[in-house]
Amino acid sequence: MRKRIRVNQLRVGMYVADIELNGGRESGQFAPFLIASDKQVKKLMAGHVMTVVIDIAKGADVELDRSASELNHRTAFEIQLKTAFSALDLKEARQCIEDTKPHIRHVLSDARIKASFASDAADSAVERIMTATFSNAGALVAVAKLKEKDEVTFLHSLAVSALMISFGRSLGHGETDVRQFGLGGLVHDLGKMTLPDEILTKTGKLTHDEMDLVRTHPQRGYELVSQVPQVSRPVLDICRYHHERYDGSGYPDRIAGRRIPYAGRLAAICDVYEALTTIRPYKRAFSQAEAINMMMNSPGHFDSKLLSAFVSRMVISGTLH
Ligand SMILES: [Fe+2]
Repeated sequence: MRKRIRVNQLRVGMYVADIELNGGRESGQFAPFLIASDKQVKKLMAGHVMTVVIDIAKGADVELDRSASELNHRTAFEIQLKTAFSALDLKEARQCIEDTKPHIRHVLSDARIKASFASDAADSAVERIMTATFSNAGALVAVAKLKEKDEVTFLHSLAVSALMISFGRSLGHGETDVRQFGLGGLVHDLGKMTLPDEILTKTGKLTHDEMDLVRTHPQRGYELVSQVPQVSRPVLDICRYHHERYDGSGYPDRIAGRRIPYAGRLAAICDVYEALTTIRPYKRAFSQAEAINMMMNSPGHFDSKLLSAFVSRMVISGTLH
């Protein structure tokens, strides 16, 4: 049985089945191994790894959290939602998801089938998300956490858009800028839609070459979205630079610090936060505190000033739950 854990939960005797990068979107690059020494644990903790998958049939388990293990993820999730938000907030968030679904699906399928960017549909979705995030951004982001298999791309796009809009507003940006951040968040991974079928549908581990191909998605997205002349610079920057790291160890261009465009640095934070807190059938979600803890302890990954702003304005402020 495989279990997703934080890297600082690793102990000698655990069997590491997979090492995850970028909030778990990149995996399958490393051969499984048994942790034989503390040195191996320290090496992993010193790197850019935030989460790993262990196989408890082949090695040691983490200490079980009884309350969490007694509830299945979905039930626990529903209880958490009802505790944090009013019935009206949840209803409105779910309505926003229903309203934007046809537009976002249109954007995704045009990229996939026609290699083109349906900018009108994307604009419609962003307008709707901007309205919904005015009343309760936290509820929208929270409802979108639970993703069934065919909803992962759609709901991740929507949630990153909502986070970008809300974070942008919290930083004092006007609605014109915020709209661009929201659009960038919505289409940040659109380049993935142009990857070959065998990679998009592969259920097993990706090979090294396949992973290299996946890492072309920022450039692919940038080129795809550039087809529409009126698309603004921040939207292009978000597509192209959302996987760059502040210390220059990201991709595709390995640029560092403020050479990474501002909108790209915002998107890196919202994208990883959303990925870490996502609930999928085979992966438990990390709590907000765990996700923030991992991001704050991921040296060189993010713009630390922007990350601090995200924590104070989005988390401590109570916007996100
Ligand atoms: Fe991406």
